Amino acid sequence: MDPTEDGAEGRRDVARPAIRPFGGYDAKRSERIDVELTHVDKGSPAGEYLRRFWQPFALTRDVGDLPLAVKLLGEELVLFRSKDGTLGLLHKHCSHRGASLEFGLIGEHGIRCGYHGWYFATDGSILDVPAEAKPGSLAKRMCHGAYPVRAFKGIVFAYLGPIDAMPAFPIYDFMDAADEDCIPYCWPIDCNWLQVRENSQDPIHLTFLHSMFAIKQFGDLTPDIPYIRAYETPLGQITTSVRRVGDLYYCRVNEMMMANASRVPDALREGKAIPDNNEADALGNNGGGAPLKYKRLLPSSHGFGLSLWVIPNDNENSMFFGWHHVPSDEPEAVRLKRVQQVAHGQMRDRPYAERQRNPGDYDVITSQGKNVSRDNDRLTPADAGIALYRRQLRDGIRAVQAGKTPKGLDIKHDGVIPTYAYVLVREAPPLGTPEEEWERKQAFEKEAAAEVLALRVPHTPRRLVAAE
Ligand code: FES
Ligand SMILES: [Fe+2]
Repeated sequence: MDPTEDGAEGRRDVARPAIRPFGGYDAKRSERIDVELTHVDKGSPAGEYLRRFWQPFALTRDVGDLPLAVKLLGEELVLFRSKDGTLGLLHKHCSHRGASLEFGLIGEHGIRCGYHGWYFATDGSILDVPAEAKPGSLAKRMCHGAYPVRAFKGIVFAYLGPIDAMPAFPIYDFMDAADEDCIPYCWPIDCNWLQVRENSQDPIHLTFLHSMFAIKQFGDLTPDIPYIRAYETPLGQITTSVRRVGDLYYCRVNEMMMANASRVPDALREGKAIPDNNEADALGNNGGGAPLKYKRLLPSSHGFGLSLWVIPNDNENSMFFGWHHVPSDEPEAVRLKRVQQVAHGQMRDRPYAERQRNPGDYDVITSQGKNVSRDNDRLTPADAGIALYRRQLRDGIRAVQAGKTPKGLDIKHDGVIPTYAYVLVREAPPLGTPEEEWERKQAFEKEAAAEVLALRVPHTPRRLVAAE
């Protein structure tokens, strides 16, 4: 059986659109779930794939003096910080008789089960089994389930895969920008992770969801219909979108880093486009070709945006984790406004009627269903990034199944991994016919994509900073 099929009931042709007016009775929606791509439990195809990557799952500030129960990739776990300052992530149920370690007592080097006192180190070693006939014999024979964790700039990451396949902790350039601060966030979202993940590579929704209601999340930047393309990168993919904004063409480059991380460039930063008067230097070695005459919307960096991992708690619940990347010298009030504007509509924290009047990403994504059947989709060229991601995801899942290294874990780098999310802007001639506009957008997109894919865009100097 095709692993994407649930069984005989799940055939793709069950999905049937209405093809005549008042044809509601004729139409049928498929309920078939793409198990291969969406289910995340241990042993499931996507679950095994996602376990090969470091995953963010908690905010450092939430790790206090009590253990924190978390669910990650379908596994029930407990995160805690021992009194010596080490973080531990352990299977929630005690190795003795299953009591939850969320009711344990945190000790100097680990956590002691609250029921009968077994004492576990942060790496799962058993430090004490009270009342053993031969003290230490169980501790020599077994460990409690534990996973490696790493705190970085306010977010705790874990690796839940086989320990002998653990990759190095990746540091992307946006995690390490000299002129930016990283403000961590977590937005829970109660549906399957994949439909959440696809939202980042879906630039046309900015024209509608974020521009046609009273609250316009991107201001005046996004009401135009964009020209959209998607490309593979060494890390995953970029999805480009070119719009007219007044007398400019605005190319926004959203990026996906396999397996489940993304970057969106800032669209909210106030300020005008400025002439890029140092193309030759800033563009670096341009291979002898004439440098592009674009302007940059953002004055100094390809940052000031948002990084987003989408982490499955289980098959029907997930969380956004990442950072707001903000200029280090930004006044606090401006920073707060920016963060609030970006966070608008990302959670279930608003009254229903308000969510209807001004829906946000949370509302439309969860409205698709707990785990949407993709058989009912009718993809258009604007869905290029989504189609590419589904293909890349399936490839990655099958690579792991075949014992190969999936895309995203095969990166060659010397410490900091360069990324591709960017905003490029160029002057536009007076508004032409729809056909002329489309052709101009296509032409600019082609040039901009070539520059970005070659990393020939101005970069802020990067430096490594010490992790927490
Ligand atoms: S159940 Fe944990 S020590 Fe007994
Ligand atoms: Fe959105």
